[in-house]
Amino acid sequence: CGIVAYKGKEQALPILIKGLKRLEYRGYDSAGVALYDNSVSDIKIYKKQGKVKELENLIDGKSPKSGVGIGHTRWATHGEPSDINAHPHRSHNGRLSLVHNGIIENYAAIKTELQKKGYTFESQTDTEVLASFIDYIITSEDCSLEEGVRLALTRVVGAYAIVVIAKDNPDTLIAARKGSPLVIGIKEDDGSFFLASDATPIVEYTKKVVYLKDEEMAVISGNQMTIKSLEDVEQTPQVHELDLNLEAIEKGGYEHFMLKEIFEQPNSIADCMRGRLKANEGKLVLGGIHEYANALTNAQRIVIVACGTSWHAGLVAEYIIEDFCRIPVEVEYASEFRYRNPIINEGDIVIAISQSGETADTLAALELAKSKGAIILGVVNAVGSSISRITHEGAYLHAGPEIGVASTKAFTAQLTVLIMMALRIAHRKGTITESKYHELLVELESIPAKIKKALDVNDQIKEISARFKDARNFIYLGRGYNFPVALEGALKLKEISYIHAEGYPAAEMKHGPIALIDEEMPVVFIATRDSSYEKVVSNIQEVKARKGKVIAIVTEGEETINQIADFVIEVPHTSEALMPLVSVIPLQLLSYHIAVMRGCNVDQPRNLAKSVTVE
Ligand code: G6P
Repeated sequence: CGIVAYKGKEQALPILIKGLKRLEYRGYDSAGVALYDNSVSDIKIYKKQGKVKELENLIDGKSPKSGVGIGHTRWATHGEPSDINAHPHRSHNGRLSLVHNGIIENYAAIKTELQKKGYTFESQTDTEVLASFIDYIITSEDCSLEEGVRLALTRVVGAYAIVVIAKDNPDTLIAARKGSPLVIGIKEDDGSFFLASDATPIVEYTKKVVYLKDEEMAVISGNQMTIKSLEDVEQTPQVHELDLNLEAIEKGGYEHFMLKEIFEQPNSIADCMRGRLKANEGKLVLGGIHEYANALTNAQRIVIVACGTSWHAGLVAEYIIEDFCRIPVEVEYASEFRYRNPIINEGDIVIAISQSGETADTLAALELAKSKGAIILGVVNAVGSSISRITHEGAYLHAGPEIGVASTKAFTAQLTVLIMMALRIAHRKGTITESKYHELLVELESIPAKIKKALDVNDQIKEISARFKDARNFIYLGRGYNFPVALEGALKLKEISYIHAEGYPAAEMKHGPIALIDEEMPVVFIATRDSSYEKVVSNIQEVKARKGKVIAIVTEGEETINQIADFVIEVPHTSEALMPLVSVIPLQLLSYHIAVMRGCNVDQPRNLAKSVTVE
């Protein structure tokens, strides 16, 4: 979900609407705003199932003029997407309205208690319960709005970021967070404040921001802001300068963010390596990991936790770190790791990979590992995000904001950071020869140019996409370093085109998926020239023998597979360990074009969200 709020001298509504559009990638089941209406000293709420556009149509210029407002774009957890379940929610007697990201876990018990006291509820949401709970506390304890919010939050269990407005406090905004992000932009010259789930709605107004910390609340009253802990102790806010420009969060002439982000990859990877890698000087540094560099080099074991595409990047890292550094690596789904009593020993290294830095399961897995004495490191894109703040050290991706829900440039930047990390460890440990190390540095430096070349297949992929757009299933197969790429290719297709797809290790196909193959079944092989090439060629033969349709990603100059496969897509040659950076490119494009041809909303696929801040 995405939260946006404004308090200042401008009209709040256009700022909220623009902000919601910027945040729409975080959730888009429904959207709403609440504005303080001076003329009647009350709060007006407008909310609607569907996209922010629907909300705009609903308001259609009829809203009150107001300098205070809150807005929300939703990804449903409790209660189906509907007008009623959309945020903002008002409390039982309408005293206050709030927007909320996260989950209040004990909402059912609180709801029952409030119902016994005569409170009624319109929606099925936990958020409405929280609104009325605050309201109830204000009445029963005869306290201020601020105190009511604070006390309520100390009594709920769960994760949240909230912003509250109340009709008796027209000049006040109260925000708080625990587990879900909230950024506050401060424009000092006119005393205005911009609150949002991430910085994208804020950057065009101000670059001065405060990241609210867990269990902190911000009370904005007049043109003053106070930050305090939920224990009621005043805190000194740290003001940060945003390193983000408007261009980076706009489409820049591309039809979709996803396509823009795919084509950005030569640059985003160059940005990721900037200042870190200089092959001709033999230089490779990751400035964010220095205090724990020795611990990392001497680790007995590394555990990687992540979700989704980031988990696939972790699988590639496992192969690289084990291959070059000879350190055992385990890659875990964060959601499984945290609930299965994992073995973590003092000094183990746990690395979290996350684009957003906010994924609830990944964050919780890290907290668990930290509590057991692990050294926790982050490979994160979003600067200042929760994961980047709780980790001991880490390396940012520097890939720029990723807006398309299906991750593309973050994946390749994650691989780039993890490869740099592995090469550094291997070099320090001496588990790689000097000449191999230098060869890989040179090769890594050439990756942006190779990706640029790989992007030349775009038109060819459009043709292939037209041929297969109506397929009902796809299989993706690869071996070794290209096995996680097969998983990632299948995930991309599922996410945005809603075609069922499976990624498998090519040889494992014989143990099940081969039963699915008939003349209708497209099978995408990642069959580049590497140590398992010959074996993959045999796997292609096995599919062709069963009349499957083979689309093969091959290395430039390939001659054998062209004779067997139905379609071949060439990518430039690189070292085996770096190949995922190049071989994933055509798969990203294939899923993109198929989804566009099927009329799917590529940037905002159904049911998904960019940043999953609930477990
Ligand atoms: C969501 C997104 C995926 C992403 C995953 C992990 O499911 O839709 O694209 O890979 O979360 O997100 P993270 O921000 O932790 O990398």
